[in-house]
Amino acid sequence: MSQHDRLLIIDFGSQVTQLIARRLRELNVYCEIHPFNRVDDAFLRDFAPKAVILSGGPASVFAEGAPMPPARVFDLGVPILGICYGQQVMMHCLGGHVERGDGTAEFGRAHVSPTEERLDLLQGWFDEAREQVWMSHGDHVARLAPGFRVFGTSPGAPFAVTADPDRHFYAVQFHPEVHHTPRGAQLYANFVRIAGFSGDWTMGAYREEAVAKIRAQVGDGKVICGLSGGVDSSVAAVLLHEAIGDQLTCVFVDHGLLRLGEAEQVVTMFRDHYNIPLIHADESELFLTALDGVSDPETKRKIIGGLFIDVFQKHANDVGGAKFLAQGTLYPDVIESVSFSGGPSVTIKSHHNVGGLPAKMGLKLVEPLRELFKDEVRALGRELGLPESFIGRHPFPGPGLAIRCPGEITRDKLAILRRADAIYIDQIRKHGLYDEIWQAFAAILPVRTVGVMGDGRTYDFALALRAVTSVDGMTADYYPFSHDFLGETATRIINEVPGINRVFYDVTSKPPGTIEME
Ligand code: XMP
Repeated sequence: MSQHDRLLIIDFGSQVTQLIARRLRELNVYCEIHPFNRVDDAFLRDFAPKAVILSGGPASVFAEGAPMPPARVFDLGVPILGICYGQQVMMHCLGGHVERGDGTAEFGRAHVSPTEERLDLLQGWFDEAREQVWMSHGDHVARLAPGFRVFGTSPGAPFAVTADPDRHFYAVQFHPEVHHTPRGAQLYANFVRIAGFSGDWTMGAYREEAVAKIRAQVGDGKVICGLSGGVDSSVAAVLLHEAIGDQLTCVFVDHGLLRLGEAEQVVTMFRDHYNIPLIHADESELFLTALDGVSDPETKRKIIGGLFIDVFQKHANDVGGAKFLAQGTLYPDVIESVSFSGGPSVTIKSHHNVGGLPAKMGLKLVEPLRELFKDEVRALGRELGLPESFIGRHPFPGPGLAIRCPGEITRDKLAILRRADAIYIDQIRKHGLYDEIWQAFAAILPVRTVGVMGDGRTYDFALALRAVTSVDGMTADYYPFSHDFLGETATRIINEVPGINRVFYDVTSKPPGTIEME
């Protein structure tokens, strides 16, 4: 566990609990999310939180077996912030009264106005008299618990902000963590200031602790790490190498579906720049032969996934006696989120990038990024000196160009696609747009069309360009390039890449489309 001051978020199953953690990490405060049914007295003693947040959740305090925190949480003598369902839990547990929603649930934007009395939690709020907040609740507080007073009201929630300032217990009906509460971050800043956090959760500190933890876990054992060239596995590898030097061997499986110059970049970066032992497994023949004549998207994915595991295992065996497999698993993949049927069932989301391998090979997992969010991984990468060009890279899918080549994959098509994609990305960089875009790529379509170049007829492939903005890849909008940009890029591609004579721009968002073509 971290040596830093710790904040405990008790999760009652809200969809947005992770965002609370995000807001706190942005304030350099270390926090962990734990489901309510895993938090008992012994846990509280060991965790020793400096403050506690009770999350929102879909349950009703009236429901049988309604999720509750252990009563001891209110005797810890630390500040507590209850959000939405968390507010109702506080009232319920501390002697107030919650009323069942009468079907008039309040969802969406609302405006909170201050009462006469000032509250430290609300410092910096109400400069403009009212603050916009996001409400999402059915039940509501009807009578406050002893010691609590009202500090903010909204038309639908007379108890929008309540507190017992002497005990530093705060309870709000709205969600300060979502971006529809535009100045919600201020409340978290106030809360951690009141609780006395020093904001010492920095990447420098994390790096030192992570190195010590890796050394303690692996001792003098050997570790293998699958490197994809993506940000997560790259940062994990560099961190591991700092911790254990040559006990680490990276395996980079080149499936022949990488972009132009990609394999060389990865090898140069890790072998030459960082001096990290690296097995560059050029298995393109194996993969491309297996994919020959295959056009069904799911079949392609299954072939690639299966071969990847075989190849990785073969090369990992060459690193005789490895006991550990390192992965770039992130925090969102490991948070245990409460699955809500009201009961205590807990769904554990775990993410194995090379699924099934650890058990098959008798390996233990080393996951040095499992406490970090994606942007924190990028910050750690910067801290470790990885170049910006690597850290800011757009995501690239495991199956690589196979899913950007709808229909049958041929070596000729892949060669054309690589060149066209490189020009497209070059254009985006030249126009200073790369960092504004979540992901951009070209796809070669399984269709040939007629064109005219010079005095001659052409009959070549059509290319689709895709660029999307997104926060997490779950939903996406197409990027609104200017017509000048699109025209210039299409002209360059058609002039410079034999085999392409027509370029389309994909204006589908997700949903209904997906980001990749397959
Ligand atoms: P879709 O196409 O599902 O993609 O909208 C969402 C994001 O996930 C990436 N993606 C993958 N990443 N292995 C990966 O590591 C995969 O099999 C895979 N399929 C899609 C995609 O590039 C986008 O960022």
